[in-house]
Amino acid sequence: MAEEWRCAGHAGDLSDDAPIEFKLDGTEIGIYKVGDEVYALENVCPHAYALLTQGFVDEGTVECPLHEAVFDIKTGQCIKGPGGRALKQYAVRLAGEEIQIKVE
Ligand code: FES
Repeated sequence: MAEEWRCAGHAGDLSDDAPIEFKLDGTEIGIYKVGDEVYALENVCPHAYALLTQGFVDEGTVECPLHEAVFDIKTGQCIKGPGGRALKQYAVRLAGEEIQIKVE
C-alpha cells in the first residue's frame, strides 16, 4: 500500500520554543522543532490529561503544564517526573514549506 502523508502545518509557523498542535484522525500530536530537525510526538501526557504543546519547551525537552513531567523531544523518553512512560513518536517530514505526518 502506498504511504500516506498528511499536511500538518507550515514550517514557518514552527519555532524551537513554539510547537504546533495537530489532530490526526482524532489523535492529538505535538510537532516540535529542535535545531534543524522536526519531531512529532503523542501530545496527551500519559500521566493524566494535559496537552504537552501547552507546556514549557526548552533545549530539546518539553515540560508538562500540569505536574511538570519532562520529556525528551528527540526520543519521547520521560526523563523526569510522573509521566511514567515514553511518548509515541510519529514519522514527520518537511516537503518544502509543508510539515507532513505519516498516516499509520
Ligand atoms: S498530566 Fe502531565 S505530569 Fe501529570
